[in-house]
Amino acid sequence: MSKKKILCVVGARPNFMKIAPIMVAMKDHQALQPILVHTGQHYDNAMNHQFFADLGIPEPDVNLEVGSGTHAEQTAEVMKRFEPVVDREQPHAVLVVGDVNSTIACALVASKKNVPVIHVEAGLRSFDRAMPEEINRILTDQISDLLFTTERLAGENLLREGIRGDRIHFVGNVMIDTLHHNLARAIPAKRIFEEAHAPQRFLSGAYAALTLHRPSNVDHLETLQSLLETITMIGERIPVAFPLHPRTRSRIESFGLSALLENSNLLILPPLGYLQMLGLMKDAKLFLTDSGGVQEETTALGIPCITLRENTERTITVDAGSNTIVGTDRKKILEAFEDILSSGGKAGKIPEYWDGHAAERIVDLMAQWLQNGGRLA
Ligand code: UD1
Repeated sequence: MSKKKILCVVGARPNFMKIAPIMVAMKDHQALQPILVHTGQHYDNAMNHQFFADLGIPEPDVNLEVGSGTHAEQTAEVMKRFEPVVDREQPHAVLVVGDVNSTIACALVASKKNVPVIHVEAGLRSFDRAMPEEINRILTDQISDLLFTTERLAGENLLREGIRGDRIHFVGNVMIDTLHHNLARAIPAKRIFEEAHAPQRFLSGAYAALTLHRPSNVDHLETLQSLLETITMIGERIPVAFPLHPRTRSRIESFGLSALLENSNLLILPPLGYLQMLGLMKDAKLFLTDSGGVQEETTALGIPCITLRENTERTITVDAGSNTIVGTDRKKILEAFEDILSSGGKAGKIPEYWDGHAAERIVDLMAQWLQNGGRLA
């Protein structure tokens, strides 16, 4: 039986946690031959190499080294550089994960060449088209041949958009596979704080953690300033650890807001590796974020999460998990925060199939599908 060649694409930080368990499940598979393509959308040590090291992802077979740019530049550059790889490798399928620019770019190249597209984390919808990832999600799903979902509602979204039901498979969440595999190796928050020479308050009691990077939150002076001022108020009640995404750091500097970070109740950290982030999350009293992944990871850990966005595409984290959507309104953020301090917040429960075995399900279905010429028995 000849092996089916699959180009597996990653580009940006949130992709790495998703591909890791899929690469493990495909390693030594009798029917599948994975080839790992990194587009180079993220390239810094902290945003990229550290994750490969933490998660034991194999060295990419191909690196397209596209780097940063506008959406059009970045997407176009990935497409231009990915096309010759598809021509050379002649894969049986291209597998993409998540919703970043690299996801849509590679899916589009493959589908124009009649190479089947497999999308992991399909069907999530925020219904907010101002969010660049929402465009990437809708378009990637429309041109995908096999779609794997993390929650049942995602399947309903896809059916509503006219995707054939036999292409959609509810398999669970590969990012939670990664969390399960690495929880025991998480770096304790206390160690992170000690190494960062954090004020004593961080070492001796409860703390909150914060991440911010969505353009809608950090690219507008008023919104970013108001969020940072709100965080300063929260810092008076509980110390806040804040790993800074490069986009956010650069906006804070260019808007002249750096003085708001000079506060002993805030601990500004560089972007963290996966095992550090997991430790920071696991030991936190609560997490404030605009990240998609953190909403899911805190739900899996049962840590209360306050999401600083008007909506979420990851509905199950609100319906079943520990997540509360509050947007950027100061009053709402502080209310949700006080509720968590006084009542402990939403306990939530673990969503269906977030059990650490999603990648195995994906790989089994994918192998069957490819052996059957694009159908499942
Ligand atoms: C991208 C994804 C977003 C994801 C996020 C996680 C898209 C549309 N967005 O957003 O969904 O949540 O990654 O981080 O694909 N930069 C560095 N070093 C790096 C990478 C980026 O300094 O290794 C800086 C560059 O100045 C760049 C900026 O960060 O312009 C933003 O990077 P980019 O990949 O364009 O978007 P993200 O905001 O990271």
